[in-house]
Amino acid sequence: MNESYKKLMKCFEQAEKKISFKPELALVLGSGLGDFCETLDIKETLEYAQIDGFPKSTVAGHKGRFVFGYCGETPIVCMQGRVHYYEGYSVSDVVLPTRLMKLMGAKTLFLTNAAGGINPAFKAGDFMLICDHILYNVPSPLIGENIEELGVRFPDMSEVYSKILRSAVEEAAAEEGVPLKSGVYIQTSGPNYETPAEIRAFGRMGADAVGMSTGVEAIAARHCGMKVCGISCISNLAAGISPEKLSHKEVQETADKAAPMFRKLVTKAIDNIHTLN
Ligand code: HPA
Repeated sequence: MNESYKKLMKCFEQAEKKISFKPELALVLGSGLGDFCETLDIKETLEYAQIDGFPKSTVAGHKGRFVFGYCGETPIVCMQGRVHYYEGYSVSDVVLPTRLMKLMGAKTLFLTNAAGGINPAFKAGDFMLICDHILYNVPSPLIGENIEELGVRFPDMSEVYSKILRSAVEEAAAEEGVPLKSGVYIQTSGPNYETPAEIRAFGRMGADAVGMSTGVEAIAARHCGMKVCGISCISNLAAGISPEKLSHKEVQETADKAAPMFRKLVTKAIDNIHTLN
């Protein structure tokens, strides 16, 4: 058996023994957005550390657990804390949690993150619906022997972020009166922030926001047949766009401030996605 699949199935068997909840949607919570779970009707939790072989997040401010519960009527699993490529994990390990949530039953992946704004029309605290992405200096999570049990060798990526789900999120934003921008997200390897020259280059490539996650998770989710949508919280203006130096503290503080609006938007979006089913 394929080594990545073997590892995934080992994690799944452990999770299955501990958790009976069947989520319909998987929500990945980015920096500063982890308190979303406080408003959930929580049924079960599973610490990443309880799963042998599961990659653990090492970033300050990122918790490390799955939370299972209801967001309104929708059974969901939340990742409170994700793992990043810059932590030293292989990209295959970085997407293991995504694949695990698919095996748990999730048909939809809702990705969130904190990102730097490249588009000059963006300001800190804005939300951006992700329409598409670019990977920069990050390998595809599908490199290596294909996991035939999950998907095909050469999956199509012409609509990674589902148009139908994007409309559902846009409607949620309108219903809740939350301003929502949209744009292309570029994933870099990190962990350093970008240089101003890189940001200028990314802007010319067509990117509107930059971060260190999300793209690879979206690819893995599409490979295994999940529908995907995503929202970035613009936590800062990217290097050279803002005269200020960048810091993780600033990223977290802005995301924390935006958290109540974010919660409103995501809750409504999940309701709207649920009614599509
Ligand atoms: N660059 C990369 N990742 C980020 C940024 C940024 O400016 N802000 C939040 N995550």
